[in-house]
Amino acid sequence: MCGIVAYIGNREACPLIIKGLKRLEYRGYDSSGVALIEDSELNIYKKKGKVSDLESQLTDKNLNAKIGIGHTRWATHGEPNDVNAHPHFSNDRKLAIIHNGIIENYAAIKQNLIQKGHVFQSATDTEVLIHFIEDIQKETGTSLEEAVRLALLEVVGAYAIVVMSVDFPDQLIAARKGSPLVIGVGKDEFFFASDATPIIEYTKDVVYLDDYEVAVVRDGKLSIQNLDNTQKVPYIQKLEMELETIEKGGYDHFMIKEIFEQPRSIADSMRGRVRADEAHLQLGGLANYIDKLAASERIVIVGCGTSWHAGLVAEYLFEELARINVEVEYASEFRYRNPVIKENDIVIAISQSGETADTLAAIELAKSKGATIFGVCNVVGSSIARASHAGAYTHAGPEIGVASTKAFTAQVTVLTLIAIATAKRKGTISEETYRQLLVELETIPAKVEQVFENAAKIKEIAFIFTYARNFIYLGRGLNFPVALEGALKLKEISYIHAEGYPAAEMKHGPIALIDEDMPVVFLATKDSSYEKIVSNIQEVKARKGRVIAIVTEGDTLIPTMVDFVIEVPKVHEILTPLVSVIPLQLLSYYIAVMRGRNVDQPRNLAKSVTVE
Ligand code: M6R
Repeated sequence: MCGIVAYIGNREACPLIIKGLKRLEYRGYDSSGVALIEDSELNIYKKKGKVSDLESQLTDKNLNAKIGIGHTRWATHGEPNDVNAHPHFSNDRKLAIIHNGIIENYAAIKQNLIQKGHVFQSATDTEVLIHFIEDIQKETGTSLEEAVRLALLEVVGAYAIVVMSVDFPDQLIAARKGSPLVIGVGKDEFFFASDATPIIEYTKDVVYLDDYEVAVVRDGKLSIQNLDNTQKVPYIQKLEMELETIEKGGYDHFMIKEIFEQPRSIADSMRGRVRADEAHLQLGGLANYIDKLAASERIVIVGCGTSWHAGLVAEYLFEELARINVEVEYASEFRYRNPVIKENDIVIAISQSGETADTLAAIELAKSKGATIFGVCNVVGSSIARASHAGAYTHAGPEIGVASTKAFTAQVTVLTLIAIATAKRKGTISEETYRQLLVELETIPAKVEQVFENAAKIKEIAFIFTYARNFIYLGRGLNFPVALEGALKLKEISYIHAEGYPAAEMKHGPIALIDEDMPVVFLATKDSSYEKIVSNIQEVKARKGRVIAIVTEGDTLIPTMVDFVIEVPKVHEILTPLVSVIPLQLLSYYIAVMRGRNVDQPRNLAKSVTVE
């Protein structure tokens, strides 16, 4: 969604902000802009399109401001164009604002301001907010900081904002509710951003702003207060992120880099948690809650997109290993139902970004009904991580490609650890199975590496199907969510229509689609449903469908039946998704590249969906 970067200090603000906006490009956007104060003037430059379009507009200008705010916009109110791009001016053009989120009651505020003579340039809710701040400041004669606070007490919705004033060129004011904002603390300089990626190369000292907090940098000092006016001591944390993790490192796209990073990211998600030789499994964040998990009668898992698919995998794991009843819900549906949640229910919220608005709202709803919330997030310090009672980070490292890849396998890894730990505590698995699973888990990174040996073959298959118009993905058991994930990966980056189904469901409708033009990807690894999936393959072949089968190495039957096979190493059945998803990620990547798609930033999509 929108990206925010702001700077105040002794460096040149403009190039730093542009670089920061480029680091946030992965979040998805349609226009960008900067506001700078120089020579006692507040100027705004904005442009529809890429940050590089904005940059070209700025090249012939001699900009040496030491304070500025910048923004990438993902349109909500008003079409993507130069006028609706942020920053926005106040009526007297003395204030400028950038905003991520939605002001829900903007229409009523706007109407009132129009009656007072305000003239609006854009169709955005954000412009209304800065006019409102200006109006309060003028009517009450109060400070800008107080006007921001008073305005925010009136607005309904979500926001992360940064405001600056030409009258106070040593001041930046920021606030958040429901949209992330990180403040980098340097020597005599401060950075504001939607996530830490624009900040990391300048400082590792950061403050994560909480909801309802207003941060003010004035005269080189940072102060934070709540909307209710109580002062807070800024809590400075050290970033653990390294710069190289947010750069492409020689790869053509972040997505392929992230696919190939999986042996390491899976190992990282187990690091310090699993030691098979000592039969040790411990997740620090869950230590105080493991008894509660083991005693629970029901777990509700909420998430969206790929994270929801990881939740479906977890459903099988918790039911199979820990014998706990699990329901997996789209967060967006859950939050608007009147779900039955009891006090001893456990809700597991899964999110790579930790900022997904629907997942956050689902957590708040479940919390209000007394449930205990476990967050499984990738981004450290994110809103969902902080809104949860306990949790486990996935430690996959920054995921920049919009298509989630390493985040999925890290989520599945961590959920597997939680399920095994719960089962152990509950006594629903034998000591032998427990030890065997830990040993097998430690072999997964090497087995994922082995799947990469098939990359050239997968590329050839991608070439053959580059211009397919539809795809069907079929799997059973633990491979059913993998089929859904494979279809999602393909559709979101190649724009090919793709559907995932449980293989047995095919004969209840989708089989009507099968003909010689329909590629069907079967997840057909050697597991407890192998014989059944063989029958499903026969059903598709009988109707001339073109079958690509993901099989266990050494399988001699399925290769005789299908058009293409991709082998994956043998793993314990419980761990199947961690290897069977890899060829599907590669297939969708290669097809998208061959179709000339913008793989890392597919159309209409944002990495972090902070609006509902
Ligand atoms: O950050 P989250 O995991 O909460 O995001 C949820 C979905 O928006 C996300 O998984 C989305 O479906 C990805 N683009 C899938 O690749």
